[in-house]
Amino acid sequence: VTEPDLKGRHVVVSAGGTREPLDPVRFLGNRSSGKQGYALARTAAARGARVTLIAANTGLPDPAGVDIVPVGTAVQLREAVLKAAEDADAVVMAAAVADFRPETYAAGKIKKKDGQDPEPIVLVRNPDILAEVSADRARPGQVVVGFAAETDDVLANGRTKLARKGCDLLVVNEVGERKTFGAEENEAVVLGADGTETPVPHGPKEALAEIVWDLVARRMK
Ligand code: PMT
Repeated sequence: VTEPDLKGRHVVVSAGGTREPLDPVRFLGNRSSGKQGYALARTAAARGARVTLIAANTGLPDPAGVDIVPVGTAVQLREAVLKAAEDADAVVMAAAVADFRPETYAAGKIKKKDGQDPEPIVLVRNPDILAEVSADRARPGQVVVGFAAETDDVLANGRTKLARKGCDLLVVNEVGERKTFGAEENEAVVLGADGTETPVPHGPKEALAEIVWDLVARRMK
């Protein structure tokens, strides 16, 4: 039996991967399926929370009892997260957000021209949503959690990222073309701004989600 330890709480979870359009046909994207974020949303709802799930290009079935806000780009994700965070007790950023977007959007499909080299794609920075939510807490005591998707020097990069983003907890997981993205299982180390390190062994994404909520619930008290 699940304890309703998040009853009366509003939690915001982001899931999936942003897509940054180049033209009506193409985009820059990433391999996130949304499964880890959906597992977080489902488990929080089962523990009694009111859940707002900001879903970027996921195509997964809607979890029951969860408010879903679909978004496409990082800029749209930011708007939705900031709005939902206004009265949230916790914000968990499991979405894979593009750090950059194409500077220009072509209203018509970009055509290849015979004998010509392709035009370079110029990128501009996207806002860092996690850093912004962490720096300007909409509520005193709001708990902010980030994820770090790393391919090398996983823990060292995670520690640097935790300091840079300013969140309370950072879930560090290793990713690759066939690792973690789209899988049913994950493994991670959850780093706390207070210096704590919680290793989470390989297992279902739900199991990692439950441990995240345990750590969040402790910090909300
Ligand atoms: O969706 P799945 O297929 O289940 O895969 C799960 C996952 C690997 C996508 C997930 O577990 C995960 O690691 N999510 C974070 C992916 C990511 O964007 O990591 P990052 O290291 O690039 O970003 C660090 C943190 O900053 C993240 O919480 C991210 O949401 C946030 N961020 C990043 C860039 C940006 N411009 N704004 C942000 O808020």
